[in-house]
Amino acid sequence: AKDPVRVLVTGAAGQIGYALVPMIARGIMLGADQPVILHMLDIPPAAEALNGVKMELVDAAFPLLKGVVATTDAVEACTGVNVAVMVGGFPRKEGMERKDVMSKNVSIYKSQASALEKHAAANCKVLVVANPANTNALILKEFAPSIPEKNITCLTRLDHNRALGQISEKLGVQVSDVKNVIIWGNHSSTQYPDVTHATVGGKPVPELIKDDEWLKSGFISTVQQRGAAIIKARKLSSALSAASSACDHIRDWVCGTPEGTWVSMGVYSDGSYNVPAGLIYSFPVTCRNGEWTIVQDLSIDEFSRKKLDLTAEELSEEKALAYSCLS
Ligand code: NAI
Repeated sequence: AKDPVRVLVTGAAGQIGYALVPMIARGIMLGADQPVILHMLDIPPAAEALNGVKMELVDAAFPLLKGVVATTDAVEACTGVNVAVMVGGFPRKEGMERKDVMSKNVSIYKSQASALEKHAAANCKVLVVANPANTNALILKEFAPSIPEKNITCLTRLDHNRALGQISEKLGVQVSDVKNVIIWGNHSSTQYPDVTHATVGGKPVPELIKDDEWLKSGFISTVQQRGAAIIKARKLSSALSAASSACDHIRDWVCGTPEGTWVSMGVYSDGSYNVPAGLIYSFPVTCRNGEWTIVQDLSIDEFSRKKLDLTAEELSEEKALAYSCLS
């Protein structure tokens, strides 16, 4: 039998945490033959609720779940973890300035970076979900210099999956037949959902959907605004789809992407596609042997170029704002 993998979920007493931990314990993230030990971190006001989640995990009697650590101590939570899913963060509340929210998250991600760097297992893979996801991941990277930058990513797979869903609904085809959409840039409303290279059953999506107007406007804004639409409908933000997409992100990263298929991940930019190096930016990637690689040489038309640049600009601004919170 395989040795258990230790998976950290921060913010585990929250909404996404509640949907995510049973998925991990059922083998949806790492495979049906991979035992796991769950490490769950939250803050003291949520300690009791966190303990309730731990009780439910025990009650669910998951065969793959070999242990549960539920704690409000970041060092204890990070010790020995092989995968870290960072869902905990400070939400933007009504009337709060952007800078104040950024400042709270910068201090959270700075201190959790240190705890991970000192105590996580070697080669720990990190996925940041909490918003502002790209910039939280960047802060984590800066304050955990001994963790390879390749190991620090953020979640844009939910946006990617939303794009697959919209194309499947529009064409009336199975979502599993839609491939190779791309989310470029920030996990925010400036993201660029790109179907230029997407296919259904091997045929290019732009040829199948003869509605250029929809592709260039309705589709893009629906995907960009989907998070807000969920909040409006549910009075709560996306949770099951976020949790499911986080599992997809880690599974593909660890187990590899299928031949001929790419996915979107927020990763440290090396300057590919003239995206400024040093941002955490969402790119199309393939994964093999536990490592992602940015898909190269895709053609970028003028329309796309503008959208890639716009979301990069926003990320550069966020980066500057985050750094101004450090001084
Ligand atoms: P939530 O408010 O239900 O849960 C957040 C949890 O984090 C709470 O239990 C809170 O106590 C905890 N927390 C706060 N500070 C913490 C700290 N320093 N250490 C550990 N835990 C801490 O929020 P929800 O709905 O679960 O969302 C979590 C985050 O994910 C939010 O930032 C949200 O904006 C983001 N999100 C990102 C998505 C993406 O696609 N990247 C999609 C959906 C949500």
